[in-house]
Amino acid sequence: MAEKTLVIVSGGSRGLGENLVRALLADGHAVATFSRARTPFLDACAAEHPDAFYWEECDITDAPRLAKFVSTSTRRFGPTTALINNAAFATDGLFLFAKSQDIHRALAVNVEALMNLTQLCLAGMVRVRKGVIINVTSVSGLRGIKGAAAYGATKAAVDGFSRGLAREMGSQGIRVNSVALGYFESELSKELLESEQVQKIVERTPLKRVGQVGEMADVIRFLLSPAAGFMTGQTLVVDGGLTC
Ligand SMILES: NC(=O)c1ccc[n+]([C@@H]2O[C@H](COP(=O)([O-])OP(=O)(O)OC[C@H]3O[C@@H](n4cnc5c(N)ncnc54)[C@H](OP(=O)(O)O)[C@@H]3O)[C@@H](O)[C@H]2O)c1
Repeated sequence: MAEKTLVIVSGGSRGLGENLVRALLADGHAVATFSRARTPFLDACAAEHPDAFYWEECDITDAPRLAKFVSTSTRRFGPTTALINNAAFATDGLFLFAKSQDIHRALAVNVEALMNLTQLCLAGMVRVRKGVIINVTSVSGLRGIKGAAAYGATKAAVDGFSRGLAREMGSQGIRVNSVALGYFESELSKELLESEQVQKIVERTPLKRVGQVGEMADVIRFLLSPAAGFMTGQTLVVDGGLTC
């Protein structure tokens, strides 16, 4: 079990982030998260865990707002030694027809804002010489996936960021890893999973199914825990064997 601490999770309002927030609260952590929209799940968490849960409405690309979120969270729960970069913007469709504003948005949300949030949290981690950063990426950053060129490029960039940052921060007691996901059940993948394309994906997957949300949370809980104390700069692939 990981040491009880404040865990900051970007995009914990729904999808995989929602399940992760639920699991971290159940483990006894304090959790601070943000998203653009409020959801019933967030209201339920605030009611059930008034002393361990904090949510703020914030677009990750709004840098001043993001800084305020981090300072309010740490004022409330103490320094953060754990950050899960989960929020992302997914583009799909053939790159030839991609709109420049979507490409820009994917880079801004998935790469630039993620780095900004990481920097905001790192300052506190360096002070206590301890920290765990986990970046949620995708198999589309590891393999070519039709329709995911721009999105995959942002996820590949984040895997590279994890490795570089792991080199820089290891001596400060801070570990940085990526978790590259295959296909999971969530809002982001809902359309795809409802299409006949999912059958092909399942056929190509050795475990013959898509991932369950709890299986992402379990890997993240492992990376947060002392059991992963000698792991940094790695990309853990959680995809049912799709890319093996
Ligand atoms: N689901 C899959 O099959 C799959 C596969 C590979 C990788 N992944 C990765 O897993 C992570 C979670 O995916 P998911 O499927 O759970 O996505 P999701 O269901 O779309 O949820 C995304 C979360 O991020 C928040 N978010 C999105 N844009 C934001 C912004 N600009 N500012 C603040 N918050 C923002 C959303 O809230 P708001 O919209 O209210 O802001 C929501 O809480 C992502 O990094 C994704 O790339 C997922």
